[in-house]
Amino acid sequence: MFSEPDRTLNLTSDWLLVGPDSRTCPTDEPAQPANPPVPGSRYRIWFHVDAAYAGSACICPEYRHHLNGIEEADSFNMNCHKWFLTNFDCSALWIKDRNALIQSLSTNPEYLDNKASQGRTVIDYKDWEIPLGRRFRSLKLWMVLRLYGVENLQSYIRNHIKLAQHFEDLVAQDTRFEIVATRTFSLVCFRLLPANKNEEDANKLNRDLLDAVNSSGQIFISHTVYSF
Ligand SMILES: Cc1ncc(COP(=O)(O)O)c(C=O)c1O
Repeated sequence: MFSEPDRTLNLTSDWLLVGPDSRTCPTDEPAQPANPPVPGSRYRIWFHVDAAYAGSACICPEYRHHLNGIEEADSFNMNCHKWFLTNFDCSALWIKDRNALIQSLSTNPEYLDNKASQGRTVIDYKDWEIPLGRRFRSLKLWMVLRLYGVENLQSYIRNHIKLAQHFEDLVAQDTRFEIVATRTFSLVCFRLLPANKNEEDANKLNRDLLDAVNSSGQIFISHTVYSF
């Protein structure tokens, strides 16, 4: 997943983003930031792991290996509003060194001065982000964790993956369709095959299928363009 920087091009980067999921075709590679051991510390760039969708699956021990090497990352996030039963919007961000954020984003105008901040008895999240104000999103995530509990959340994720496996099997058995990317979690990437093997016809055929299914209002399929 990682390659050595091409020093001949003299390109520099301030940060590196990897993800166990990409928005439309999840990779079947684990995030594996440490395999080979890498980047942030060695190249002094910010190393962020975007697990917006797949992060939720890692509540199940059998999927946790997708986070192997995560200790090398400077930051990690998952969107609890994607696959963790939490209402939009709620994203969880872990950061190794909070000072990096604070040094970049803190503001200290007089009117925000108060004893609690001065005495460092509170965490001023205004210094971790651009807005000063923030909604109490952690409350709803806490409610999800307390209401469902770990086992229910695990079985919810496992059930989705089982349903995806079942759907994938049905698609694979149907010769009119093709599975176009390896399924890792609950996302199945498939397409209709054109009778004449013409790729332009294939795109049109699949757009028509997408429109037909989505206009039903019963099922919603998301789409992408995938390079073979
Ligand atoms: C991999 C990945 N990263 C980031 C995002 C952005 O999520 P949001 O803007 O809701 O935080 C998405 C959303 O689809 C995603 O799939």
